[in-house]
Amino acid sequence: MGKEIKWLTYDSTVGELYDSPVGHDALAKVLLQIGLPEKVITNKAVSGLKLRTIANLTKKQLGTDFFDALLNLVDSEHDEPRASKGKITPKWWKEVVFYQIYPRSFCDNNGDGIGDLQGIISKLDYLQKLGIDALWLSPIYDSPNDDNGYDIRDYDKIMEEFGTMEDFDQLLAEVHKRDMRLIMDLVVNHTSDEHIWYKQARQPNSPYRDYYFFRKDDGSHTPPNNWTSFFSGSAWNYEEDTDSWALHLFSKKQMDLNWENPRVREDVIAMVNRWLDKGVDGFRMDVINYISKEEGLPQGNETIGNLMGFPGIEHYYYGPKLHQYLREIREKAFEPHGAFSVGETPGLGMKMCQLVTGEERKELDMVFSFDHLETPGHVRLEDYEYDLNYFRDYMIDWMENYGNNCWMSLFYNNHDNPRMISKITKDASHHTALSKLLAVMQLTLKGTPFIFQGDEMGLANYDFTSMDQITDVEAKGYYAEHIGKESEEKVFADILAGTREHARVLLPWNKKLPPCHEGLYQKPKKEVLYAYRRLLRLRHEEKAFVYGSFRVLCRKKDRFVYARALEGKVYVVDCNLGAKPCMAFRLKERCKIVYDTVRTGKDERGNSGASNAVISRKLRKGGMLQGYEARILRIL
Ligand code: NOJ
Ligand code: CA
Repeated sequence: MGKEIKWLTYDSTVGELYDSPVGHDALAKVLLQIGLPEKVITNKAVSGLKLRTIANLTKKQLGTDFFDALLNLVDSEHDEPRASKGKITPKWWKEVVFYQIYPRSFCDNNGDGIGDLQGIISKLDYLQKLGIDALWLSPIYDSPNDDNGYDIRDYDKIMEEFGTMEDFDQLLAEVHKRDMRLIMDLVVNHTSDEHIWYKQARQPNSPYRDYYFFRKDDGSHTPPNNWTSFFSGSAWNYEEDTDSWALHLFSKKQMDLNWENPRVREDVIAMVNRWLDKGVDGFRMDVINYISKEEGLPQGNETIGNLMGFPGIEHYYYGPKLHQYLREIREKAFEPHGAFSVGETPGLGMKMCQLVTGEERKELDMVFSFDHLETPGHVRLEDYEYDLNYFRDYMIDWMENYGNNCWMSLFYNNHDNPRMISKITKDASHHTALSKLLAVMQLTLKGTPFIFQGDEMGLANYDFTSMDQITDVEAKGYYAEHIGKESEEKVFADILAGTREHARVLLPWNKKLPPCHEGLYQKPKKEVLYAYRRLLRLRHEEKAFVYGSFRVLCRKKDRFVYARALEGKVYVVDCNLGAKPCMAFRLKERCKIVYDTVRTGKDERGNSGASNAVISRKLRKGGMLQGYEARILRIL
């Protein structure tokens, strides 16, 4: 456990606030949100100011209780994160490359237009040939599909459209037969309102009532607090028959579980154990940092709500019992099975992530944090161009400061995001080069790569033309909320830029698509597939890319050059992050190109490009990199 940090008060300084883990991450998040640099806070003139002074100066803009809310949040964490520079503990989940499958849109085996488990089984050889050694399946449990399976009706049943439990058992056996691993999605912040627990809980005297958050209406017929749902509108449903309100941070059919209730924790842990007993290798844990809500569910601070877009968030995104709950589930389920955990933790910054993933703390093995997915000052549902220079700076910060006792996940895409290559530029002529550049960084940086289905095909965003093609509950909620306030054109452009639907269209190897997606097709790019295969092979062969040290060699505009080294073997990765050609990085040492996104050749064996030896000679004289070109060199 880290050492205790000093309790902060209004007499503390901005610098002290920024030194505390939660204060640091909260302020960093606010800066990110409004697009201001860190030095706004770290410059001496500001960092030495007392919070009282700042509170007085900003009373008009931030309101009187902004700092109360911030201090309250900071006070919830007295441990200090630890970032060790020592040896990295070897683990299988640090050495593998994961592939995320969104079952509904991966592979449809029976021709009904919906992906299924037999479809996944039929593609295991393809995945193995690609070099994948672990799979993460988005939810496959029985669900009414209000949020495509993230609203679970029965944790012990397979979604009918996907198959049966026999199909699942076969899938797991086939995965293991290939020496691959499989992790499931654990969605336990909420259940579907059709889950038996919730159905029971709707009876006022049921023992299940306390499994969820119900609040009797106080006569005002307004929700108990100002918390909003991530899918628009209030986070509360009014239930007329009992004259009460029920909490849902996500859709109206995703009801939040009350983790304060020990029976909820017992039931969840028993369910996790049933799946682990079956032999699954671990779980990705959905919005797991939201499971502990502050007692009394207090009103959210308005300023924080406006800044973050979600009023109330400070009361549950790093709740007071989060560490306790994570330890409990780890101790009683994960650890006895040697299972792996990766938490989805939106909103957590680096220090908070260190506090949930530090290996000595025994909470989570790894997390997905999301602050690298948008350039500062921008949000996902917004039409803008992502700046890879920000990605570079973010990565360098994490590579250098996260610590060897923590381990990072590396990803650009998942089922909740549009494709990164389209976010960087809509100009399709750059997309192949970009796909390969992103693959090079993902497979040579320090952390565990999670490839999202279709990345290896070079898939980009789809040209949706109307809301009829968008099935996702988030985009629909966004549309309904914004349509009266902004022009239809603007609302649709923002949805088109950021909707999760881009990641949810059936992969191109499927013949029949559901009617709403009919005609949406992108030809898979073989060249990108071959690049992934080669890079995966390289990563598996060279442990320097897993456990090696990381050193930045160049971080000028549009340039990202770094070295990974282990036991005397040194690799240099030279990336051009811009669309224009640039000078290649000049190394004094003799070196050999082991991979180059442009020159290595575009066929399966890497033939047809100029030979590496030739490039190596040219390189010593300088040489150029084309737009978005990346190359991996080994120092001889
Ligand atoms: C995060 C999941 O990734 C997303 O798809 C889902 O809508 C929410 N959690 C709610 O479960
Ligand atoms: Ca099917």
